[in-house]
Amino acid sequence: MTDGLGLRGATAVVTGGASGIGAACCRLLEDCGATIYVADRDGDPPVDVTDRAALDRLAAQLERLDVLVNAAGVLTENRPVDELAPEDFRRNFEVNVLGTLNSCQAFAAPLRAAKGAVVNVASQAALVSLPQQAAYTASKGAVAALTRSLAIDWAEHGVRVNAVAPGFTVTPMTEAFFENETFTRAATARIPLGRLLQADEIAGAIVFLASPLASAVTGAVLPVDGGWTAGEPALPW
Ligand code: NAI
Repeated sequence: MTDGLGLRGATAVVTGGASGIGAACCRLLEDCGATIYVADRDGDPPVDVTDRAALDRLAAQLERLDVLVNAAGVLTENRPVDELAPEDFRRNFEVNVLGTLNSCQAFAAPLRAAKGAVVNVASQAALVSLPQQAAYTASKGAVAALTRSLAIDWAEHGVRVNAVAPGFTVTPMTEAFFENETFTRAATARIPLGRLLQADEIAGAIVFLASPLASAVTGAVLPVDGGWTAGEPALPW
């Protein structure tokens, strides 16, 4: 189906590649003919994106890197902003933001050698607020901003840096939410396409941005959200 998208023979690193959206990226990149390295705290060997030395050890094995997908991320418990614990704030920023920066810095040399492409996984929460999730929302806003900064600083090296901003996607991160039928009905009603998203659909946009098909795109934050950030679903005029 993909006919390689220009990624046949490419080398790719996927952080968070052991589950959900990251795992879907691994499957699609493999289908395109790329060789995949997973950097996940649940991977074999485990690689934690907050551990720069562990990322450096993986990077040292690679002479060139065509694709870096930063999908490792966490979502801490829902809390009203008044009750937000500094620990929750730190955890979201440590993994989602610093983890993304660590990974980009660790793989900078092989990415430059290949004039490769980075795709960061932000969230629709980077664009509109997710209730009771101030720390996650702020961290994903920072991922979007970091994406633009990296795109500008690395343009001279021919390395493109983009992000996707997924909407509600069925993965282990969100499965507990979707077990709650009232929540799922409310969330689905708010999505113009009228359904939850699947990890493969997010991977499709990520792999497009990573591929030569997107050779003119850098610094973009692409909503992949069934229309959530485009506006309210149709009104009964
Ligand atoms: P998931 O929980 O299925 O996968 C996340 C993966 O990241 C797991 O394999 C986990 O082991 C890994 N990970 C977490 N912390 C890590 C660390 N410190 N070092 C290395 N690996 C680590 O979740 P999902 O849904 O696939 O999430 C992937 C990304 O997509 C995350 O950044 C998440 O914030 C983002 N996202 C997810 C949405 C959803 O509705 N599922 C919506 C918008 C964004």
